[in-house]
Amino acid sequence: MPPICQICDGAVEEFLDLGRQPLSDAFLTEQDLAVEFFYRLAVGVCRSCTMVQLVEQVPRDLMFHEDYPYYSSGSSVMREHFETTARALLARCADEPDPFVVEIGSNDGVLLRTVKAAGVRHLGFEPSGKVAAAAMEHGVRVLTDFFDAESAAAAQHNDGPADVIFAANTICHIPYMRSILEGVDRLLADDGIFVFEDPYFGDIVAKTSFDQIYDEHFFFFTARSVQAMVAGFGLELVDVERLPVHGGEVRYTIARAGARPPSDAVSALIEAERAQGLSDLPTLRRFAADTARVLADLQALLRRLREEGQQVVGYGATAKSATVTNFCGIDRDLVSFVCDTTPAKQGRLTPGTHIPVRPAEAFADPYPPYALLFAWNHADEIMAKEQGFRESGGRWIQYVPDVHVS
Ligand code: SAM
Ligand code: TMP
Ligand code: ZN
Repeated sequence: MPPICQICDGAVEEFLDLGRQPLSDAFLTEQDLAVEFFYRLAVGVCRSCTMVQLVEQVPRDLMFHEDYPYYSSGSSVMREHFETTARALLARCADEPDPFVVEIGSNDGVLLRTVKAAGVRHLGFEPSGKVAAAAMEHGVRVLTDFFDAESAAAAQHNDGPADVIFAANTICHIPYMRSILEGVDRLLADDGIFVFEDPYFGDIVAKTSFDQIYDEHFFFFTARSVQAMVAGFGLELVDVERLPVHGGEVRYTIARAGARPPSDAVSALIEAERAQGLSDLPTLRRFAADTARVLADLQALLRRLREEGQQVVGYGATAKSATVTNFCGIDRDLVSFVCDTTPAKQGRLTPGTHIPVRPAEAFADPYPPYALLFAWNHADEIMAKEQGFRESGGRWIQYVPDVHVS
């Protein structure tokens, strides 16, 4: 029996197996080592609706809980991105007498802080306790709960319809999509918009950024698959916008069917996806082969550097890096430690491979000869502040779109 599509119940054809993987954001203490959770990370495409998705689900409470360690405000570029995004969303409901903005996955309040500062009614849904508390410290109104059909109906009952429902890097995390879209249908005002942005599968294939594949990233969206996904819920994809953040994303704008005319950008992107062959098995198999080549090249480079006695330090204890390190068997023998600015990750061990995570300051103390840039999506921001590394003779190792040292 093939796996079943979480959107349409169609048959999912697997095209990439990334093996046994841990929870990507489970940074461990020594005591945790005995009870690590593993699952099989593999990706397939639905032969009916073209949705690309994981074939195995990880229970949501194992990923999103009190100690979830990802804080959105850790990047200055992302802080700016979400401030600009919040202003754009506020402008879109400025004509409403008492607008109401809802965010799904509001994390530490990186977006809703701007909404709150504008004095606009808002509500964040954020099940992960400590990041939700960080938002509340900024006066942001948060429900420490998962968004789904039930919690959305309760919000509609308490607060009335939402003019804007926004989500960033969250909708692709949610396998129970029918409950989400039912919730959007219950909560959204008749002329409201549901806007979400997530890593774009077109960019993932074009750049071979296979490390976007991990437990939390369940769906890999295209304009075509999103259009089909929302259509079953009386909703319509009315705009798409490509974004440079996180290695390439698309922002999808959804409205009630017939409420707003779709922009030309929607048909243009769907046509570009057809030309790229994004849902065709030969393209997907080529992506899998490119992925295998990059992983083999990276493993060979790190082994050679170890033989030469060259130290390699990881930069950014990203969730993405779990896929790379666990597939390649990159442990502390190959990468001596990973530096990261997030206090919740520091002093812990990376999932599955048990590399120590140290504060960012450890990077320059002293600079290593090589740094493996796991947070490649933040390359501009990181290179700008770590100029001293290159000046000291250090070299960056990157693996997107292929393995290169610079
Ligand atoms: N929006 C932020 C950003 O773009 O940086 C946070 C993204 S973070 C990768 C995903 C967030 O979604 C986590 O904080 C997680 O707790 C939250 N989340 C997961 N499932 C959710 C659900 N059903 N409803 C609301 N939030 C959810
Ligand atoms: P992300 O790629 O999922 O946003 O994760 C980025 C990780 O990298 C997160 O743990 C924070 C860390 N980081 C740094 O250590 N230094 C930095 O300058 C930036 C931007 C991120
Ligand atoms: Zn399907």
